[in-house]
Amino acid sequence: MKLVSIEKARELLLAGEVVAIPTETVYGLAGWTGSHEGLRKIFSTKERPFFDPLIVHIDSIAKAKALTSEWTNIHQALAETCWPGPLTLIAKKNDRVNPLITSGLDSVGLRCPRHEATLSLLKNIDGGLAAPSANKFGKTSPTTAKHVFDEFGDSVSILDGGQSEVGIESTVAGVMNGRVEIFRPGFYTAKSLKETLLKKGIDTEVVYAESPVAPGQLKHHYMPKIPLVIVPENFLPEKHRHEISFSFKNPVIWTQPLSPEIASRELYQKMREFDQQGFDIIFAERNSHHFSEEWLGIWNRLEKAKSQAL
Ligand code: TXA
Ligand code: MG
Repeated sequence: MKLVSIEKARELLLAGEVVAIPTETVYGLAGWTGSHEGLRKIFSTKERPFFDPLIVHIDSIAKAKALTSEWTNIHQALAETCWPGPLTLIAKKNDRVNPLITSGLDSVGLRCPRHEATLSLLKNIDGGLAAPSANKFGKTSPTTAKHVFDEFGDSVSILDGGQSEVGIESTVAGVMNGRVEIFRPGFYTAKSLKETLLKKGIDTEVVYAESPVAPGQLKHHYMPKIPLVIVPENFLPEKHRHEISFSFKNPVIWTQPLSPEIASRELYQKMREFDQQGFDIIFAERNSHHFSEEWLGIWNRLEKAKSQAL
């Protein structure tokens, strides 16, 4: 593994290289917002299409505002409460933001991550770091330095920051039509954002919505190498196992831990383990308690990771 110090990471980034950085959600493949070359390399390294916009990571609200042309009291209230943390805020961009980052959209995604090493890296960088998850496009996101290495080998330098604590990507939210719309579910739910705003004296609707431009919210994403199928509780054991073993010799039944916090922390790690342990199909069991809001982010990832062909 090509592990680098914070200082070396900074040097590489400013010189137009990409570096994998730790965050509390997943590892990001970072490029400096001030380097066209660095931004370009994010797409080529990930084999990511240019129509999928990147999130810019900053270490303060002031740096976020410096990249926007409109910062509402809702943005301010959410940033004050949830940053540093797993919330990406979409805001109108200004012309300091390279269009490569936003895929030509007039808005930009901004996030202050809750990870000490990355925060101290960001502190000494002008602008910010654009960073999508550090995996090949459409594949399982990394939550350790080793996962990044498994994906890119020595072609990507890594700032090692241990295991990502939250484990799934940030909640992505924007202010549209005077209300808050969540484009990607995550640790912060609609209910928790609504409560946060109420505490700040802002009474506004918070809803789950499809992004109007639908960037990145593709149907297939986060996919493990072996097929994954979602099944209802108690679907598998007796009745169907023999039918399944007809075509699959070594299925694994995946039951989520009881707590959604633990389930999200382990989610991508488990997918990778199943890939490596010689199973040939994953059956993810969806139980009745998985339909509450806290589980939305996890099942959103599993829905996209599931195999469409089966
Ligand atoms: O937790 C995370 O957000 C991680 C870590 C590294 O910070 N990053 C991450 O990036 O998940 P990525 O590229 O895998 O997902 C970014 C998604 C895009 O696919 C898109 O859905 C949304 O954020 N996004 C970014 N800019 C947007 C914009 N201007 N409007 C709407 N959605 C946007
Ligand atoms: Mg991703």
